[in-house]
Amino acid sequence: MEKLKNKRVLITGASSGIGKAAAILLGQQGVELFLLARREEKLLEVKRLIGDKTKVEILVADVNDKNISEKLASFTSEKVDILINNAGLALGRDKVDHSLWEDMEGMIQTNITANFRIAHTIVPWMLKAGGGDIINLCSIAGHHTYPGGAIYCATKHAVLAFTRALREETAGKNLRVMQISPGMVDTDFSTVRFKGNSELADSVYQGMEPLLAEDIAEMMLFMLSRPRHVVIDEIITMPSAQGSPTTVVRK
Ligand SMILES: NC(=O)c1ccc[n+]([C@@H]2O[C@H](COP(=O)([O-])OP(=O)(O)OC[C@H]3O[C@@H](n4cnc5c(N)ncnc54)[C@H](OP(=O)(O)O)[C@@H]3O)[C@@H](O)[C@H]2O)c1
Repeated sequence: MEKLKNKRVLITGASSGIGKAAAILLGQQGVELFLLARREEKLLEVKRLIGDKTKVEILVADVNDKNISEKLASFTSEKVDILINNAGLALGRDKVDHSLWEDMEGMIQTNITANFRIAHTIVPWMLKAGGGDIINLCSIAGHHTYPGGAIYCATKHAVLAFTRALREETAGKNLRVMQISPGMVDTDFSTVRFKGNSELADSVYQGMEPLLAEDIAEMMLFMLSRPRHVVIDEIITMPSAQGSPTTVVRK
């Protein structure tokens, strides 16, 4: 897509799932990719899949690294046209009184602190350059709550609030602040949530057809390819068998 060609795109959490699918689809549009995640071998695999269609740089880093801003500055030379602020996770599905504090803290740090810090780092670069695009990965858990999801839902409610306020703050500055809030997407999300218990993870998607990471990547491409005066504020999307986090129709 000519409009996106040579744009510099930073994707956090690009080693798997939604971030990986976004990297592959946006790579096909000729954007220059800056991919970040902790697992080097997975990032190298994404780079290999994209092949020589476009320039791909990888940064093996934890978004919770206290030096993440400095790392991003040298990784991207402070030039980012599009930020896909996607790295995130759920840990556990227990009620608060049975949850591990390490899990709760891990979600708060990754989904809130790191997400906000990355936006805080990059927004000034975008404003100085005269504009840019941000897509934050929220969730229907940013709009609803469910038992066993108190902390994950709270973190995604925080993302929703941050996106909305940032959009108000930057209106009129050619900075499009956008958000995607998916329901169930078949990625490594549930495997991570259930700490490698594949039986539990598989049961999440049993008897229903979840969204695919590629569906979300297509939505991102639609958002990013609108004319500059159009902002898709948010896409809330679910599989057709899902009505809310707790309403899923299974065969
Ligand atoms: N799947 C769903 O049903 C669903 C629904 C709504 C919203 N979401 C949101 O979508 C986003 C992507 O999730 P996904 O479904 O694609 O899950 P996924 O397949 O598990 O991918 C998560 C990505 O985040 C990265 N990540 C996690 N913690 C990180 C850290 N501390 N530092 C750097 N990278 C980190 C992982 O990379 P490494 O492990 O290699 O670091 C991985 O690339 C998340 O924000 C999630 O909350 C997912």
